[in-house]
Amino acid sequence: MPPPASDERSYYLGTHDIEAWRLGVQHRVWRPRTLDVWRRAGITDGSVVIDAGAGPGHATLDLAEIVGPSGKVHALDRSDNFRAAIEAGAKARGLANIERHNIDLMLDDIPVSGVDAVFIRWVFIFIADPVAVLKKLAGALKPGGRFICHDYYDWGTMNWSPRRPVLEEFVETAIRDWNASAGDINVARRLIPALPEAGLTLVEARPFIFTATPKDFIWQWPKTFIVPHARRLAERGVVTPQWADEVEKEWARAEEDPLSIMTTPLLMEIVAAKT
Ligand SMILES: C[S@@+](CC[C@H](N)C(=O)[O-])C[C@H]1O[C@@H](n2cnc3c(N)ncnc32)[C@H](O)[C@@H]1O
Repeated sequence: MPPPASDERSYYLGTHDIEAWRLGVQHRVWRPRTLDVWRRAGITDGSVVIDAGAGPGHATLDLAEIVGPSGKVHALDRSDNFRAAIEAGAKARGLANIERHNIDLMLDDIPVSGVDAVFIRWVFIFIADPVAVLKKLAGALKPGGRFICHDYYDWGTMNWSPRRPVLEEFVETAIRDWNASAGDINVARRLIPALPEAGLTLVEARPFIFTATPKDFIWQWPKTFIVPHARRLAERGVVTPQWADEVEKEWARAEEDPLSIMTTPLLMEIVAAKT
Protein backbone atom coordinates (compact mmCIF):
# COMPACT_ATOMS: atom_id res chain seq x y z
CA MET A 1 0.00 0.00 0.00
CA PRO A 2 1.44 3.44 -0.82
CA PRO A 3 2.13 5.76 2.12
CA PRO A 4 -0.58 8.34 2.88
CA ALA A 5 -0.23 11.69 1.09
CA SER A 6 0.87 13.21 4.39
CA ASP A 7 3.27 10.80 6.05
CA GLU A 8 2.58 11.32 9.76
CA ARG A 9 5.76 9.48 10.73
CA SER A 10 7.80 12.13 9.00
CA TYR A 11 6.98 14.74 11.66
CA TYR A 12 9.81 14.09 14.09
CA LEU A 13 7.69 14.69 17.21
CA GLY A 14 4.58 12.85 15.97
CA THR A 15 1.02 14.14 15.57
CA HIS A 16 -0.63 12.24 18.42
CA ASP A 17 -2.75 13.82 21.17
CA ILE A 18 0.19 14.31 23.58
CA GLU A 19 2.01 16.39 20.98
CA ALA A 20 -1.14 18.41 20.20
CA TRP A 21 -1.52 19.05 23.96
CA ARG A 22 2.17 20.02 24.27
CA LEU A 23 1.75 22.49 21.40
CA GLY A 24 -1.24 23.96 23.26
CA VAL A 25 0.78 24.54 26.45
CA GLN A 26 3.61 25.97 24.37
CA HIS A 27 1.20 28.34 22.62
CA ARG A 28 -0.32 29.54 25.90
CA VAL A 29 3.17 30.28 27.29
CA TRP A 30 4.14 32.18 24.13
CA ARG A 31 0.77 33.78 23.39
CA PRO A 32 1.57 37.25 24.80
CA ARG A 33 4.67 37.45 22.57
CA THR A 34 2.88 36.22 19.45
CA LEU A 35 -0.02 38.65 19.95
CA ASP A 36 2.54 41.42 20.39
CA VAL A 37 4.57 40.61 17.27
CA TRP A 38 1.44 40.23 15.12
CA ARG A 39 0.32 43.69 16.29
CA ARG A 40 3.75 45.23 15.59
CA ALA A 41 3.76 43.59 12.15
CA GLY A 42 0.44 45.27 11.33
CA ILE A 43 -1.87 42.24 11.35
CA THR A 44 -5.37 43.58 11.87
CA ASP A 45 -9.00 43.33 10.82
CA GLY A 46 -9.17 42.26 7.18
CA SER A 47 -5.57 40.98 6.91
CA VAL A 48 -4.82 37.86 4.90
CA VAL A 49 -2.24 35.73 6.68
CA ILE A 50 -0.48 32.43 6.11
CA ASP A 51 0.20 30.28 9.18
CA ALA A 52 2.87 27.96 7.76
CA GLY A 53 3.24 24.63 9.56
CA ALA A 54 0.12 25.45 11.55
CA GLY A 55 -0.05 22.12 13.42
CA PRO A 56 -3.29 21.81 15.43
CA GLY A 57 -3.87 25.53 14.85
CA HIS A 58 -3.42 27.26 18.20
CA ALA A 59 -1.95 30.33 16.49
CA THR A 60 -4.26 29.92 13.47
CA LEU A 61 -7.36 30.33 15.62
CA ASP A 62 -6.03 33.44 17.39
CA LEU A 63 -5.04 34.93 14.03
CA ALA A 64 -8.49 34.16 12.61
CA GLU A 65 -10.13 36.08 15.46
CA ILE A 66 -7.83 39.07 14.88
CA VAL A 67 -8.33 39.28 11.10
CA GLY A 68 -12.09 38.82 11.45
CA PRO A 69 -14.68 37.78 8.86
CA SER A 70 -13.27 40.14 6.20
CA GLY A 71 -9.79 38.62 6.57
CA LYS A 72 -8.50 35.11 6.08
CA VAL A 73 -5.98 32.71 7.55
CA HIS A 74 -4.44 30.07 5.31
CA ALA A 75 -3.22 27.22 7.50
CA LEU A 76 -0.57 25.15 5.72
CA ASP A 77 0.57 21.80 7.11
CA ARG A 78 1.30 18.35 5.79
CA SER A 79 -0.24 16.59 8.80
CA ASP A 80 -3.77 15.35 8.34
CA ASN A 81 -4.02 14.34 12.01
CA PHE A 82 -3.99 17.98 13.08
CA ARG A 83 -6.81 18.89 10.67
CA ALA A 84 -9.58 17.78 13.05
CA ALA A 85 -8.14 19.94 15.85
CA ILE A 86 -8.27 23.06 13.65
CA GLU A 87 -11.78 22.26 12.49
CA ALA A 88 -13.05 21.63 16.04
CA GLY A 89 -11.36 24.80 17.33
CA ALA A 90 -12.84 26.90 14.51
CA LYS A 91 -16.30 25.52 15.21
CA ALA A 92 -16.01 26.12 18.97
CA ARG A 93 -14.89 29.71 18.42
CA GLY A 94 -17.36 30.39 15.61
CA LEU A 95 -14.70 31.07 12.96
CA ALA A 96 -15.39 30.61 9.25
CA ASN A 97 -12.33 32.41 7.85
CA ILE A 98 -9.72 29.64 7.97
CA GLU A 99 -8.68 27.77 4.85
CA ARG A 100 -6.60 24.69 5.48
CA HIS A 101 -4.17 23.41 2.84
CA ASN A 102 -2.64 19.97 3.12
CA ILE A 103 0.77 20.65 1.63
CA ASP A 104 4.42 19.85 2.22
CA LEU A 105 6.36 23.09 2.43
CA MET A 106 9.43 21.46 0.95
CA LEU A 107 7.75 19.72 -1.99
CA ASP A 108 4.70 21.77 -2.90
CA ASP A 109 4.03 25.28 -4.15
CA ILE A 110 2.51 27.78 -1.73
CA PRO A 111 -1.15 27.80 -2.80
CA VAL A 112 -1.83 31.54 -2.22
CA SER A 113 -0.03 34.76 -3.02
CA GLY A 114 -0.23 38.48 -2.34
CA VAL A 115 -0.82 37.94 1.40
CA ASP A 116 -0.23 40.58 4.08
CA ALA A 117 1.82 38.38 6.40
CA VAL A 118 3.39 34.97 6.80
CA PHE A 119 3.71 33.57 10.31
CA ILE A 120 5.91 30.52 10.85
CA ARG A 121 6.78 29.20 14.29
CA TRP A 122 8.82 26.12 15.25
CA VAL A 123 8.68 24.70 11.71
CA PHE A 124 12.02 25.57 10.06
CA ILE A 125 13.72 23.33 12.67
CA PHE A 126 12.19 20.36 10.81
CA ILE A 127 13.04 21.51 7.28
CA ALA A 128 15.97 20.04 5.36
CA ASP A 129 16.41 23.13 3.16
CA PRO A 130 15.14 26.09 5.23
CA VAL A 131 16.42 28.73 2.79
CA ALA A 132 14.43 27.21 -0.11
CA VAL A 133 11.25 27.27 2.03
CA LEU A 134 12.02 30.82 3.18
CA LYS A 135 12.18 31.91 -0.47
CA LYS A 136 8.89 30.18 -1.29
CA LEU A 137 7.09 31.79 1.64
CA ALA A 138 8.53 35.22 0.83
CA GLY A 139 7.18 34.77 -2.71
CA ALA A 140 3.64 34.56 -1.30
CA LEU A 141 3.86 38.02 0.32
CA LYS A 142 2.64 41.23 -1.26
CA PRO A 143 5.25 44.04 -1.50
CA GLY A 144 5.68 45.44 2.02
CA GLY A 145 4.10 42.30 3.53
CA ARG A 146 5.63 40.94 6.71
CA PHE A 147 7.47 37.68 7.32
CA ILE A 148 7.27 36.75 11.02
CA CYS A 149 9.21 33.83 12.43
CA HIS A 150 9.75 32.42 15.91
CA ASP A 151 12.42 29.75 15.99
CA TYR A 152 15.45 28.64 17.98
CA TYR A 153 18.75 30.44 17.80
CA ASP A 154 20.55 28.46 20.52
CA TRP A 155 18.77 25.50 22.09
CA GLY A 156 21.90 24.78 24.13
CA THR A 157 21.24 27.71 26.47
CA MET A 158 18.85 25.45 28.39
CA ASN A 159 20.34 24.75 31.82
CA TRP A 160 19.48 24.48 35.50
CA SER A 161 20.67 25.96 38.75
CA PRO A 162 21.68 24.12 40.86
CA ARG A 163 23.35 22.18 38.05
CA ARG A 164 21.64 19.01 36.85
CA PRO A 165 24.19 16.88 34.96
CA VAL A 166 21.56 14.35 33.82
CA LEU A 167 19.42 17.12 32.34
CA GLU A 168 22.49 18.72 30.78
CA GLU A 169 23.21 15.37 29.14
CA PHE A 170 19.61 15.30 27.93
CA VAL A 171 20.08 18.69 26.27
CA GLU A 172 23.29 17.55 24.51
CA THR A 173 21.73 14.25 23.42
CA ALA A 174 18.55 15.93 22.16
CA ILE A 175 20.53 18.48 20.13
CA ARG A 176 22.71 15.75 18.60
CA ASP A 177 19.71 13.60 17.66
CA TRP A 178 17.68 16.56 16.38
CA ASN A 179 20.43 17.65 14.04
CA ALA A 180 20.96 14.08 12.81
CA SER A 181 17.27 13.16 12.40
CA ALA A 182 15.06 16.23 12.03
CA GLY A 183 16.70 19.46 10.85
CA ASP A 184 18.78 22.28 12.29
CA ILE A 185 17.69 22.97 15.89
CA ASN A 186 19.39 26.41 15.75
CA VAL A 187 17.91 27.26 12.37
CA ALA A 188 17.26 30.96 13.13
CA ARG A 189 21.00 31.53 12.72
CA ARG A 190 20.71 30.45 9.08
CA LEU A 191 17.55 32.37 8.30
CA ILE A 192 18.73 35.88 9.12
CA PRO A 193 21.66 35.97 6.65
CA ALA A 194 19.40 34.41 3.97
CA LEU A 195 16.72 37.14 4.14
CA PRO A 196 18.12 39.28 1.26
CA GLU A 197 18.26 36.36 -1.19
CA ALA A 198 14.59 35.70 -0.35
CA GLY A 199 13.72 39.33 -1.19
CA LEU A 200 13.22 40.26 2.46
CA THR A 201 14.61 43.15 4.51
CA LEU A 202 15.19 42.60 8.21
CA VAL A 203 12.92 44.80 10.32
CA GLU A 204 13.82 43.35 13.69
CA ALA A 205 15.58 40.38 15.28
CA ARG A 206 14.53 40.12 18.92
CA PRO A 207 15.98 37.39 21.17
CA PHE A 208 13.85 35.71 23.84
CA ILE A 209 15.38 33.83 26.73
CA PHE A 210 13.83 33.38 30.18
CA THR A 211 14.60 32.01 33.58
CA ALA A 212 11.84 30.23 35.46
CA THR A 213 11.26 28.56 38.81
CA PRO A 214 8.89 25.59 39.18
CA LYS A 215 6.13 28.01 40.21
CA ASP A 216 6.31 30.00 36.97
CA PHE A 217 3.98 29.09 34.13
CA ILE A 218 6.91 29.11 31.72
CA TRP A 219 8.33 26.08 33.59
CA GLN A 220 5.46 24.07 32.09
CA TRP A 221 6.82 24.63 28.59
CA PRO A 222 10.02 22.51 28.76
CA LYS A 223 8.21 20.22 31.18
CA THR A 224 5.87 19.07 28.42
CA PHE A 225 8.85 18.30 26.19
CA ILE A 226 11.73 16.88 28.21
CA VAL A 227 10.42 13.64 29.74
CA PRO A 228 8.20 12.69 26.74
CA HIS A 229 11.17 13.33 24.43
CA ALA A 230 13.52 11.23 26.57
CA ARG A 231 10.94 8.42 26.27
CA ARG A 232 10.73 8.92 22.48
CA LEU A 233 14.53 8.70 22.23
CA ALA A 234 14.43 5.45 24.23
CA GLU A 235 11.69 4.01 21.98
CA ARG A 236 13.89 4.74 18.97
CA GLY A 237 16.88 3.08 20.64
CA VAL A 238 18.93 6.30 20.78
CA VAL A 239 19.18 5.98 24.58
CA THR A 240 18.28 3.24 27.06
CA PRO A 241 14.94 3.18 28.92
CA GLN A 242 17.01 3.40 32.15
CA TRP A 243 18.53 6.67 30.96
CA ALA A 244 15.03 8.03 30.21
CA ASP A 245 14.03 6.97 33.77
CA GLU A 246 16.99 8.96 35.14
CA VAL A 247 15.92 12.04 33.15
CA GLU A 248 12.41 11.71 34.57
CA LYS A 249 13.71 11.37 38.16
CA GLU A 250 16.09 14.30 37.78
CA TRP A 251 13.33 16.46 36.32
CA ALA A 252 11.13 15.56 39.34
CA ARG A 253 13.97 16.51 41.71
CA ALA A 254 14.40 19.85 39.95
CA GLU A 255 10.67 20.47 40.19
CA GLU A 256 10.52 19.62 43.90
CA ASP A 257 13.23 22.16 44.70
CA PRO A 258 11.65 25.62 45.04
CA LEU A 259 15.09 27.17 44.50
CA SER A 260 15.52 25.54 41.07
CA ILE A 261 16.03 27.96 38.24
CA MET A 262 15.78 26.87 34.63
CA THR A 263 17.07 28.90 31.70
CA THR A 264 15.10 28.38 28.50
CA PRO A 265 16.40 27.81 24.96
CA LEU A 266 17.21 31.07 23.19
CA LEU A 267 14.55 31.80 20.57
CA MET A 268 14.82 34.51 17.92
CA GLU A 269 11.88 36.54 16.74
CA ILE A 270 12.50 37.59 13.15
CA VAL A 271 10.36 40.21 11.44
CA ALA A 272 11.20 41.06 7.83
CA ALA A 273 9.51 43.04 5.06
CA LYS A 274 9.02 41.94 1.45
CA THR A 275 10.99 44.34 -0.74
C1 LIG B 1 6.33 22.07 16.38
S1 LIG B 1 4.92 22.02 15.33
C2 LIG B 1 4.50 23.76 15.35
C3 LIG B 1 3.05 23.99 15.07
C4 LIG B 1 2.62 25.46 15.10
N1 LIG B 1 3.39 26.28 14.18
C5 LIG B 1 2.73 26.04 16.49
O1 LIG B 1 3.49 26.98 16.69
O2 LIG B 1 2.07 25.52 17.40
C6 LIG B 1 5.63 21.82 13.71
C7 LIG B 1 4.60 21.68 12.60
O3 LIG B 1 5.29 21.78 11.35
C8 LIG B 1 4.71 20.86 10.45
N2 LIG B 1 5.70 20.56 9.41
C9 LIG B 1 6.96 20.10 9.59
N3 LIG B 1 7.56 19.94 8.39
C10 LIG B 1 6.64 20.31 7.44
C11 LIG B 1 6.66 20.38 6.03
N4 LIG B 1 7.74 20.00 5.32
N5 LIG B 1 5.55 20.80 5.39
C12 LIG B 1 4.44 21.17 6.07
N6 LIG B 1 4.36 21.14 7.42
C13 LIG B 1 5.45 20.71 8.10
C14 LIG B 1 4.37 19.66 11.32
O4 LIG B 1 3.39 18.83 10.70
C15 LIG B 1 3.88 20.35 12.58
O5 LIG B 1 2.48 20.57 12.53
